[in-house]
Amino acid sequence: MSNLSAIIVGANSALSQQLALQLHQQGVKLGLMAADPSGLTKLQQQTDCRLVELDIRNAEQCQQAFNQLWQDLDGVALVVINTAANGLDLELPWQLDQAIIDVNVQGFAAIANAAFKQMEQQKFGQIGCFTSIAGERGGPQTAFHASKAFQQNYLQGLRLHAQRLKLPIIITDLRLGYLDKMHGRGKGIWAASLDKVVKQSLKALRRGKHTVYVTKRWRIAALMSKVLPEFIYNRRRYK
Ligand SMILES: NC(=O)c1ccc[n+]([C@@H]2O[C@H](COP(=O)([O-])OP(=O)(O)OC[C@H]3O[C@@H](n4cnc5c(N)ncnc54)[C@H](OP(=O)(O)O)[C@@H]3O)[C@@H](O)[C@H]2O)c1
Repeated sequence: MSNLSAIIVGANSALSQQLALQLHQQGVKLGLMAADPSGLTKLQQQTDCRLVELDIRNAEQCQQAFNQLWQDLDGVALVVINTAANGLDLELPWQLDQAIIDVNVQGFAAIANAAFKQMEQQKFGQIGCFTSIAGERGGPQTAFHASKAFQQNYLQGLRLHAQRLKLPIIITDLRLGYLDKMHGRGKGIWAASLDKVVKQSLKALRRGKHTVYVTKRWRIAALMSKVLPEFIYNRRRYK
């Protein structure tokens, strides 16, 4: 990926920061978009990236900021979308659903749409998005599960348009299982380390994969979740 540029949207998360460092080590010029760029000063020094503030809930503003960053970088080969909102409240308050939909549905679609249009003009590119295993079936975090299904479906649609346009625009759906943010403390065997998640994600992006499970073992979990009859699937416990 040397001599190429990449934009990471949602750069504050540990996953994004690790991705940024590894891409920088591979010689990729970076543009980072974050809700609070003030937390990224060290990363900016380490990677010599461009840093842009973004509130993904404001579709128009974030498309403008994205397009400006695209121009400043003089075109971009890879866009990684890694913004997300999540939460579980058994009272099912509308405010929580609304917040998740604003970020994971509207915000995601605004960025993916802007990125695809830029890539169409540029005639190549790759969009990678961290969706989730949660998108494969409804779950207790109702809006989160549904928003991830939206993302997966939207990405599939973009892939279809790339094919229609006969353009080498690759759309990679990175279906994340469970990232171990506690560094092994109190997490089960399904949790993967940040390092492993980043390595597998970069490998999938490099190979131009369409849909991958990160880590790989989540493919089995996804399959099991799909085939489980509803009366068993619905018998999950809530914390
Ligand atoms: N962690 C897991 O185990 C897991 C499992 C399955 C799927 N996933 C998916 O994988 C992706 C990465 O997960 P993660 O754990 O790294 O997520 P995370 O730590 O919660 O990070 C989410 C990112 O979204 C950004 N964000 C949220 N609201 C925003 C807004 N209004 N405007 C701009 N940015 C906003 C946050 O920025 P700030 O920090 O600046 O607010 C943060 O950088 C997500 O899509 C998540 O749904 C994660």
